[in-house]
Amino acid sequence: MSDVKQIINAFAKEFNAYIAGYFPLPDGPEKRVAEAMAYSVTNGGKRLRPFLVAETAKLFDVSPEQYLRVGAALECLHSYSLIHDDLPAMDNDDLRRGKPTCHKQFDEATAILAGDGLLTYAFEILSHKKTADDARIRCQLIQLLAQGAGAFTGMVAGQMLDLYAERETPADDQYDLIKNIEAMKTGRLLRFACEAGSVLGRATTEEHNALMVYARNIGMAFQIADDILDVTGNQELVGKTLNKDAAQDKLTFVSLCGIDEARAIAIKLVEDAKTALSVFGEKAGILKDLAQYIIDREK
Ligand code: IPE
Ligand code: IPE
Ligand code: MG
Ligand code: MG
Ligand code: MG
Repeated sequence: MSDVKQIINAFAKEFNAYIAGYFPLPDGPEKRVAEAMAYSVTNGGKRLRPFLVAETAKLFDVSPEQYLRVGAALECLHSYSLIHDDLPAMDNDDLRRGKPTCHKQFDEATAILAGDGLLTYAFEILSHKKTADDARIRCQLIQLLAQGAGAFTGMVAGQMLDLYAERETPADDQYDLIKNIEAMKTGRLLRFACEAGSVLGRATTEEHNALMVYARNIGMAFQIADDILDVTGNQELVGKTLNKDAAQDKLTFVSLCGIDEARAIAIKLVEDAKTALSVFGEKAGILKDLAQYIIDREK
């Protein structure tokens, strides 16, 4: 196992214990939605987004309490996006993180509410004073997450484009379209992870810009790797039903260019991501290895 894989696995183990503390169960029958939320957040996952928050924040010596809280908020929001992505009206998936999807384990209405609950909870976590003493920083984090997750340039917009490309077989430039889809549906939440590290750490403009270039490149590479794993992955490891993208006529780099070219594009993106970090010198070693891991991963 490479060092970075070990480091990520160790982080995930600690983070799993940490985030479990965010899900106390209410007493009444409304607890079903809290159970569905906890099920979807504490059921594994690679925890790459909180890891990315942590590693970017560590460049600036931000305290663990702060970056872990932001990581928890982001993981709640990400888990909501997965619950809704899996719904019958969207990708209609039965398997997530190696377990039944939320709507299979509970029911569709509960899954919709669990997603709503996690989306809202993310902002509650961010808004707490423990996330950052300075209210302006909390406000900035809330704004950035809302933009990254939202319907204008964020994840929801990307999901809409993903459905559009699936339903309409667009005639316009498919290369630009797929770049936009992947940058928004996946890239924007990864970008938030890097923005959060930068904002918490009060990065200089030069440092912030470097992290944004890094984020843009790994965001795209991450989704290309996901699209490749959908075809070449091992279902046990990936924990999702494979070969779904072709079955559902999804527009991906793989459907557009084939596996080899998609992989070549991802390799170039990762090289560019690593280069962008040169301003941080040796401190950014783990972030560089993470970029590589994003395309080498088996799950
Ligand atoms: C899956 O994200 C959804 C995409 C954006 C491709 P991850 O591959 O990070 O899923 P988990 O959190 O590890 O389950
Ligand atoms: C979904 O992309 C990205 C989200 C915003 C959840 P995919 O639909 O390819 O993600 P998987 O393969 O189901 O995890
Ligand atoms: Mg999808
Ligand atoms: Mg999906
Ligand atoms: Mg996928």
